Amino acid sequence: MDKHTRLKVAIQKSGRLTEHSLELLTRCGLKFNRGKDQLICHGENMPLDILLVRDDDIPDLVQQDVADLGIVGINVIEEKRLAFEARGIQPLFEVLMRLDQGRCRLSIAVPDDFRYDNPQSLQGKRIATTYPNILGRFLKQHNVQAEIVTLSGAVEIAPRLGRADVICDLVSSGATLTANHLKEVAVILESQAAIIRTPVAVSPEKQDWIHRLMLRMDGIQQVKESKYILLHAPRARLEEIKRLLPGSESPTIIPLEGHPDKVVVHAVCRENVFWETLEGLKAAGASSMLVLPVEKMLN
Ligand code: PRP
Ligand code: ZN
Repeated sequence: MDKHTRLKVAIQKSGRLTEHSLELLTRCGLKFNRGKDQLICHGENMPLDILLVRDDDIPDLVQQDVADLGIVGINVIEEKRLAFEARGIQPLFEVLMRLDQGRCRLSIAVPDDFRYDNPQSLQGKRIATTYPNILGRFLKQHNVQAEIVTLSGAVEIAPRLGRADVICDLVSSGATLTANHLKEVAVILESQAAIIRTPVAVSPEKQDWIHRLMLRMDGIQQVKESKYILLHAPRARLEEIKRLLPGSESPTIIPLEGHPDKVVVHAVCRENVFWETLEGLKAAGASSMLVLPVEKMLN
C-alpha cells in the first residue's frame, strides 16, 4: 500500500504493552486480523497498519520513518533519547501522549545481604543493566563512580553469576526480584506507556488520521473512570446536590413532568461514583439514581 497514505503504528510484539496496545487501537475503532507470528496487521476499516516489533526497536523505527507512531514505555524512549544524544544524533521522536498503562519503574536492586544507604553505596561497584544511559545519568547526578555492565537481557541473574554486584532493571510487580533474592533500593525512573511520533512532517492524509487517533485516545483515557449519572432532585436542594457530584462540570437540569418542586439531573462525573456518594446524594434528597458507564467521549 502507499507509504504516504497508510499510517504505520509500531507496538510491542510480546510483552507487558502488547495487549494494552491492541486493545487501545481496537477501542479507537480499528478492525484487524491478527494472525499467529504475523509482523504486520492490516487495518480493515482504516488506512492504518500495525507493526509488531521488539519494544526496544520502536523509537528507531520512528526515527527511521518506518513507523509514523509508536506505543512504547517511557523507559525505552528515555534510554534511546539519551543514547542518540550521546552520539550527537538528534532524536526524531517526541511523546504525543502518555497512556495510563504499563506502569513500572527502573530501579536499583541489590542482593538481600547488600547494605544500601544511599547512591554512594554504589561507589566502585559493578552494576548490570540494559539501560546504560539512564543509569549513567543517575550515577553522574550523584557523583558516583561505578562500572556499568551493559547486558541485553537476564539482568537479574548477573549478581549470582558474579558478573555484577547489583543491578538496575525494570520492576513492576517485584516478583522477578524476589525470585532472584534481590531487593529494590532506589527508583531512578518512573515509567508508563506513551505514544511517540516523528516531528518530521507527514502527508496531510496521515496527519489527519494522527489527529483523529489522538482525539479518540484522549477520549478513551478520559472515560476510564467516568460515569453518567441520572437522578431526581428537589429544586430547593439543587446546589447542594450539584456539589456532591464527583468531578462533574455543568450538569443538565430538566423539569420533571407533574412535579414542579423537582428536577431531573443528568451529569457526567469524571471520577468514579461510589455507594458512599449515592448515599450522600440520597441524604440530600436525591432519588431515582442511575449510574451508567461511559463508553466513548469526544470533546
Ligand atoms: C522486565 C524486567 C524483569 C520484569 C520485572 O522485563 O526485565 O524481567 O520485567 O517485572 P516484575 O517486577 O513484574 O517481575 P520486560 O517484561 O519489560 O521485558 P523486556 O525487558 O524484555 O522488554
Ligand atoms: Zn524490551
